[in-house]
Amino acid sequence: MHPKPKLKPARAHFSSGPCAKRPGYNLEALQNAPLGRSHRSSIGKKRLQEAIEKTKKILGLPADYLLGIVPASDTGAFEMAMWNLLGERPVDVIYFEAFGKGWADDIQKQLKINNVTIHDADYGFLPDLRKVNFDHDVVFTWNGTTSGVKVPNGDFIPGDRKGLTICDATSAVFAMEVPWAKIDVATFSWQKVLGGEAAHGVIILSPRAVERIENYSPSRPLPKIFRLKEGNKLMSEIFEGSTINTPSMLCNEDYLDALDWADKIGGLPALIKRSENNLKAIEEFVARRSWVQFLAGDPAIRSNTSVCLIVDLQPDQLKQLVKLLETEEVAYDIASYRDAPGGLRFWCGATVEKEDLEIAMQWLEWAYHEVK
Ligand SMILES: Cc1ncc(COP(=O)(O)O)c(C=O)c1O
Repeated sequence: MHPKPKLKPARAHFSSGPCAKRPGYNLEALQNAPLGRSHRSSIGKKRLQEAIEKTKKILGLPADYLLGIVPASDTGAFEMAMWNLLGERPVDVIYFEAFGKGWADDIQKQLKINNVTIHDADYGFLPDLRKVNFDHDVVFTWNGTTSGVKVPNGDFIPGDRKGLTICDATSAVFAMEVPWAKIDVATFSWQKVLGGEAAHGVIILSPRAVERIENYSPSRPLPKIFRLKEGNKLMSEIFEGSTINTPSMLCNEDYLDALDWADKIGGLPALIKRSENNLKAIEEFVARRSWVQFLAGDPAIRSNTSVCLIVDLQPDQLKQLVKLLETEEVAYDIASYRDAPGGLRFWCGATVEKEDLEIAMQWLEWAYHEVK
């Protein structure tokens, strides 16, 4: 007998994007948003600049790295990077799930880069990173949101590489240690680890990435929302809060609120700890059950944000389980990504509370036995 749990999670929000808002989130916190004001007014620009500076501080970016707010979420930021930078030399692409595969496809079929080497792996695994050629540009995803696999650290990236490392870090930043000296370009979006609003992307550039932009002009046309230079000079004002086109000042205010929360609880180390503890809550649950396991079997590469589980159920039973937990209002949006192996995915980023996950696991146990 598996009795129905009595307690429900205070917040049943386990979606992997948009992710849970920060604990204690309240729209009141957005009261100072400069709504109806130009983003180029002094107040508008100041708020955007604040978002840039606070992000740099919390992430511990090196002083000579640039950070800009750009259009179209993480996809926009990452495409912008690829379209501006790639083609100068051969490209190695590392991918191990749907989003990374999407970048590989774009590099080959849209950008039509000729000399591309693919390093791929099935869901749940990482390819052999020792085979990657860092004389080439290297495109990869730090955390595979759809497979629950992350690269373990930056040790596979040489400090003296000749190519650039271009990293989609959207479900990693603010929850995992990113060794910035090994990264030339990183991108992310606000709705992921800090539970911000979806709209804008963030692009981070190392001095070597800036040098590439200024010294290499790809032959392909670049739409205005991708353009980062005028003549042969980087448009540095983008990285000081003068965005390419109109941003949402409301989304920016919401992001500032998330950054303030992150700062108050202890910054990056506290965010990482919260996320790792969330993963631990699920690991303790899985360790004592035979009917559920991690898609990423190896703990060294197991994501602490997008945690993917395989459950011993038929596809229709799995659907019933997901529906049941949603109807009971104890776990929302936990079905695995559409292209990933059938299973469950619980977001364990810093804005999720460990107690809520622990309670959700009790409900998962109950629901499993209900549908089995
Ligand atoms: C690794 C990764 N890359 C890219 C994306 C697309 O992000 P966005 O919707 O912010 O463009 C996602 C979204 O979940 C993701 O997880």
